[in-house]
Amino acid sequence: MKIGILGGGQLARMMIEAVSKYDFRIYIYSTERNSPAGRLSHGETYGKWDDFSKLDKFIKKCDLITLENEFIDYHILEYIENSGVRVFPDSSVIKKIQDKFEQKKFLKENGIPVAEFCDAETEEDVIQFANEHKYPIILKSRTMGYDGKGNATVKSKDEIKDAFNAIAERGKVMCEKFINLKMELAIQAVRSREGEIKFYSPVETIQKNHICHLVIAPYNTETEQTEKIFDFAKTIVEKIDYVGVMGIELFLTDENEIIVNELAPRVHNTGHYTIEGSKISQFENHIRAILGYPLGDTELIFPYSVMINILGERNEKAKPQGYDLLFKSDNVFLHLYGKNETRKGRKMGHITVNGTDKNDTIKKALKSREVFNI
Ligand SMILES: Nc1ncnc2c1ncn2[C@@H]1O[C@H](COP(=O)(O)OP(=O)(O)O)[C@@H](O)[C@H]1O
Ligand SMILES: [Mg+2]
Repeated sequence: MKIGILGGGQLARMMIEAVSKYDFRIYIYSTERNSPAGRLSHGETYGKWDDFSKLDKFIKKCDLITLENEFIDYHILEYIENSGVRVFPDSSVIKKIQDKFEQKKFLKENGIPVAEFCDAETEEDVIQFANEHKYPIILKSRTMGYDGKGNATVKSKDEIKDAFNAIAERGKVMCEKFINLKMELAIQAVRSREGEIKFYSPVETIQKNHICHLVIAPYNTETEQTEKIFDFAKTIVEKIDYVGVMGIELFLTDENEIIVNELAPRVHNTGHYTIEGSKISQFENHIRAILGYPLGDTELIFPYSVMINILGERNEKAKPQGYDLLFKSDNVFLHLYGKNETRKGRKMGHITVNGTDKNDTIKKALKSREVFNI
């Protein structure tokens, strides 16, 4: 089986780690030379997304193609599909999801609760939205936003001009009502080419500076909200005819309502714990799904699994240190993504801890992070 992945970052790398044991061949197309995934793959093609002669050669090597980020223009995916190789998730799905406004429209049309939103072509549109929905509101870039880059919170009319101009520099703008959050949650759903669907447990996610910091699995599975989350996830993957793993970010509001924040058409940072925390990881299940194989068991192995991201703290050459201290503990698992340069806030790796008590597992994860440096 020859699988191509568009993108050479850590998500692609962990897919390779998950399925190389089955002798599936993975080829990487990366805009960066010697990428984290490229180095573990059966071959890396280095080129721009629209370098069609390189893309053609890459397509010829692959039986099917998947992706690890939603920022590749869907026209590139259409080009691949037109040359006879299938892409999962396909161009029509990515087209809907890569524009946050289109994505929210799709969710709303299918009865999924989302924050009130509108398209904002001008500052006037923002003022009108704020008059209807009250401050604060959030301006979001419709495309290419990640880790909070592309969002701006606006607390009063005076702030609109600067915020609008800053976001408009990145692309088209949309507005959202600011939601008072009790908690941020996420779930990974997986749907195979055969239509089989499985879910991982919903998880609690804690962000620092808009970047995922800690993930705690599972989010209390006994509640009415969890049922809703499964319902929403099922509706979403079915209605969009999705194939693969999808990460779904959710909010638990102060009024205990569940609303969907955004969809990620790929394996997701909030599912990294599944590598050691669950029977079959999100990475293996993604590959099984796109190949049309039966999906693996998504159940947790321990009562709790906690993941903490290792973000860079300086700008310099990476120097991983602390293996000896980490390896002293049981049920602690380290992943480094093979990035040569550490940079402030850059995702360099993560640590997963499995345990039986929620608070102890969280404490152990925080401690493990402290003893490791990169
Ligand atoms: N409507 C909202 N109300 C309150 N907080 C929000 C809202 N939208 C986003 N946020 C906060 O900003 C973070 C990043 O926003 P998100 O839309 O997920 O963008 P990104 O693509 O950068 O992840 C969210 O995880 C949440 O903490
Ligand atoms: Mg997000």
